[in-house]
Amino acid sequence: MEQVINFINSNKESYIEELKEFLRIQSISADPNKKPEMQRASEFLMSKLSDMGFDNIKILNPDEGNPIIYGEKIVDTKKPTILFYGHYDVQPVDPIDLWHSPPFEPEIRDGKIWARGATDDKGQLFTHFKAVEAYIKTENELPVNIKFIIEGEEEVGSPSLPKTIEANKNLLKCDAVVVSDTSMYDEKTPSITYGLRGLAYFQIEITGPNRDLHSGTFGGAVMNPIQALCDLLSKMKDKNGKITIPHFYDDVLPLTKKERENYLKLKFNEKAYMRELGVKELFGEKGFTTLERTWARPTLEINGIWGGYTGAGAKTVLPSKAYAKISMRLVPNQTPKKVEKLLADYLKRNVAKSVTYKLETLHGGEPAITPIDNVAIQTAAVAMKKAFGKEPVFIREGGSIPVVVDFGRKLKAPVVLMGFGLHSENLHSPNEHFDLDNFHRGIICSAYYMNEFSKIK
Ligand code: BES
Ligand code: MN
Ligand code: MN
Repeated sequence: MEQVINFINSNKESYIEELKEFLRIQSISADPNKKPEMQRASEFLMSKLSDMGFDNIKILNPDEGNPIIYGEKIVDTKKPTILFYGHYDVQPVDPIDLWHSPPFEPEIRDGKIWARGATDDKGQLFTHFKAVEAYIKTENELPVNIKFIIEGEEEVGSPSLPKTIEANKNLLKCDAVVVSDTSMYDEKTPSITYGLRGLAYFQIEITGPNRDLHSGTFGGAVMNPIQALCDLLSKMKDKNGKITIPHFYDDVLPLTKKERENYLKLKFNEKAYMRELGVKELFGEKGFTTLERTWARPTLEINGIWGGYTGAGAKTVLPSKAYAKISMRLVPNQTPKKVEKLLADYLKRNVAKSVTYKLETLHGGEPAITPIDNVAIQTAAVAMKKAFGKEPVFIREGGSIPVVVDFGRKLKAPVVLMGFGLHSENLHSPNEHFDLDNFHRGIICSAYYMNEFSKIK
């Protein structure tokens, strides 16, 4: 084991160079023009697996969607098996003007690597590749069986992955699924995430008159669809931050007393948080702390709103259409299906009679929560302590990784969320980066995890 760690320590610089190569690939899954880049990213990973002597390397979904890559190294069927999951697709880069260095030209500044996908999720995913490689290069053999499954559609709702898992249950059989695609509580505290929120994402279209109208000639005579949309949206949440859609909270699993106590012990610094975000005051559901609101309570956000004239200068128009994208973050035991029905009922009852509307569901994902007393998660705690020199904390997070639930249910294996990112690393925003110390410690942590996991059973 010592040799493995020494090897990782002495190859620090070359790992960064290799990660740069991965980060140069423009694998934006939301952009249909980037299909060749998705191909390149999947080929990059397949060649890494092949260089490490992995077997059975293949694309699990040859007929649809961006390639889902699989590879395995079975050293002994009697030994435990870890399945590593990650995603090679990244979010779009706009607004591009706000980047200090181009998103696909990785740069090192202040001990961080700056590029789209650095922390979400290429950098985090790559830690497991380098840990596996270090093991093979120093000990000749892995201490456990390793399987990788890596997708290229996570950022667009993983449309192909659930059926691929279902169709390959045997191939993917394992004793733990390990995912590094979450964040640490803060820069000094290694963290294991035991809960994620789900997601229900919608687009609403409101139609007023059959064409754009002169706002002088017609203004005052017909309902403006932007007005109707704003009325509707503004009524969905009250001044205490409670969502007013009837029955919205019916299935919400309350926080336990123990969880509330544990979150208080984390001593969340609201002042620093406000300063960091540049807001004068925090706002959220009354009766809950910031951590509770973002980790364990559902929310509704308006993600975008448009309609009418938004160009330069003024145009006196009464528009025909108005649009909004809205999404809810869900917590156990809410489901996107049920929430969709509640929203549909709400719209039917509350949209102004003078307009028509269309509700479209864009995507959804279930929330996840895992018991922390299983051996796969406890092993992660041991590995984190060894790698970071500090006991990890158990947290929940507000983000979503919908496939976590599919892995747990379909493979009947515990899912371990062992993240090395930070919330301040601008995932999905301009100037995404990844702390290089955490990248390095992540590799070491993964190596310790494999070693510790070989002792179970
Ligand atoms: N890695 C993130 C999820 C995440 C971020 C978990 C921060 C915990 C902390 C993932 O890539 C992501 O962005 N998920 C999307 C959902 C998806 C369906 C588009 C999200 O949470 O918005
Ligand atoms: Mn991610
Ligand atoms: Mn993401």
